[in-house]
Amino acid sequence: MAVTVAIVGATGETGSSIVKGLLQSRGFEITALVRPASLQKPKVRALADQGVKVVPVDLGGPEAEIRNALKGIDVVISAIFAGELLAQIPVIDASKAVGVKRFIPCFFATVAPPKGVLRLREVKEDVLNHVKKVYLPYTVIDVGWWYQITLPSLPSGRIDYATEMSVKDIAGDGSVPTALTDLRDIGKYVARIIVDPRTLNRMVFAYNEVHTFNDVYKMLEDVSGEKLKRNYVSAETIKANLAEAEKKSMNFLDPDFLKVAHFQYLLSWGIRGDNTPEYAAYLGYLNAKDLYPDVQYTTLETFAKELIEGKGQPVYEEMRALRAARASQEKQQ
Ligand SMILES: NC(=O)c1ccc[n+]([C@@H]2O[C@H](COP(=O)([O-])OP(=O)(O)OC[C@H]3O[C@@H](n4cnc5c(N)ncnc54)[C@H](OP(=O)(O)O)[C@@H]3O)[C@@H](O)[C@H]2O)c1
Repeated sequence: MAVTVAIVGATGETGSSIVKGLLQSRGFEITALVRPASLQKPKVRALADQGVKVVPVDLGGPEAEIRNALKGIDVVISAIFAGELLAQIPVIDASKAVGVKRFIPCFFATVAPPKGVLRLREVKEDVLNHVKKVYLPYTVIDVGWWYQITLPSLPSGRIDYATEMSVKDIAGDGSVPTALTDLRDIGKYVARIIVDPRTLNRMVFAYNEVHTFNDVYKMLEDVSGEKLKRNYVSAETIKANLAEAEKKSMNFLDPDFLKVAHFQYLLSWGIRGDNTPEYAAYLGYLNAKDLYPDVQYTTLETFAKELIEGKGQPVYEEMRALRAARASQEKQQ
C-alpha cells in the first residue's frame, strides 16, 4: 500500500526536490498543502499535473481545516520558507490529533549545535521541541550546504546565470571542510529516510560530499580552465560584520535578518567547522552514507561542468524576479 505523504512548502526549492524524489521512488501518494493565495501559481498547477493532490490550507486559519487535510496521512514533511518556521506549530498539533505516524520538521540545512551559533537553527530547535512536547514521532533531516549556493562566478561570467545566490567570500583560510549537497538530490534521500524504521525519532545527516572551499575553488579552476580570484575573509571580519548586521535586526522574521543569517552560517561552517559528518555523529545524527550506501548522487565536479555547459538551474527565480521588479519600480518613482 502506498505511503501517504503531505508536504508543506512543496513549491519551494527544497520542497520541489522532495516531490520529485518521492515521485521517482514510487510508492508514495503525495498531497501538497498550499496556501490559498498561491493556488493559481504555475508551480502549483504543475504539481497537480504530476499527480500531486493539491489541498488549499491556511496554516494560520482554523486548526480543524488542517486536521481535515491531514486525515489518513502517514508522513508530514515541512519544507516551509525559513521566515515562516513558526507556522509549523498548528501543523504539528493537527498531525498529533489525527495520528500522523511521522513528522519531518523543516531543517534541511547545515549541521550546527542546537543553540548559540545559528539563530535560524534555534527557531528550528524550538519547533522540534514542540514536536517532542506533544509526543509526535519525527525525523530531522539536515543536508549540508547546497551546491547551488557554493560555486563562485568565473571571471568570464559564463556561469553568472546560476551563481547569484552563491557565497562570495572564503571564510578564514578556506581550509575548513564542509558537507555539500546537490539540492536536486535531497528528495532521493528523503524518500529513503521517511520509510526507514531506523530513522524514527532520530536526526539524519544526508549529504553528498565534503570539501574545503580551497578544494572547491581549485576544482572549478581545473574544470573551467579559468583562474579564480579568492576573497578570503578572516573570522574577525566576519564577526565584526555580524555584529553590525545584528544591530539592524535580531528578528528572524525581518528581511534585514538575512544578513545576520549569512554571517552566522559563514562562521558556523566556514570557521567553526560545524557542518561535518564527524560533528554530526557527535551530536547524535545518523549518517545517510551508512544507511543508504547505494544512493547515486551528483558530484560537485559534475555539477560544475553542468553549469559551465549552460545546463544549470538557478535557484529562487521567482523571488529574484519579484526583487528585480520591485527595484525597477522604485527606480521609476
Ligand atoms: N542547505 C542549504 O544550503 C539551504 C539553503 C537554503 C534554504 N535551506 C533550508 O531549506 C528549508 C526550506 O527552505 P527553501 O529555501 O527550500 O524554501 P523556499 O524555496 O523559500 O520555499 C518556501 C515554501 O514555503 C511555502 N510557504 C511560505 N510561506 C508559507 C505559509 N505561510 N504557509 C504555507 N506555505 C508557505 C512557499 O509556498 P508559496 O508557493 O505559497 O510561496 C514555498 O512552497 C529551510 O529550512 C531553509 O533553512 C537550506
